[in-house]
Amino acid sequence: MSKWIEVVELSNIPVLGSRVVKTRDMDIAVFRGRDDQVYAIRDACPHKNGSLSQGIMHGSTVTCPLHNWKIDLASGNALGRMKAASMCSRSRSKTGWFS
Ligand code: FES
Repeated sequence: MSKWIEVVELSNIPVLGSRVVKTRDMDIAVFRGRDDQVYAIRDACPHKNGSLSQGIMHGSTVTCPLHNWKIDLASGNALGRMKAASMCSRSRSKTGWFS
């Protein structure tokens, strides 16, 4: 059973930007899409651990700043010919907060 927790107010994430939430186990990059869709993904590229929160978001994809891999934020999968994935989490928005 999953447990939802509030981590950041939606208005504190710029549209097409991200914020990093630090946890005991890992840093989570939380992205906000143009339509206020929120994505949460481990802040480490599946290629060589580039910081995805520093990448450029377009649609539901982020381009890693180190070597330009494109990562699907919904699945955590690298797009194209690359076979790798970064862990991602479910997210939801409710009255300006998401869990
Ligand atoms: S570390 Fe992300 S593309 Fe290489």
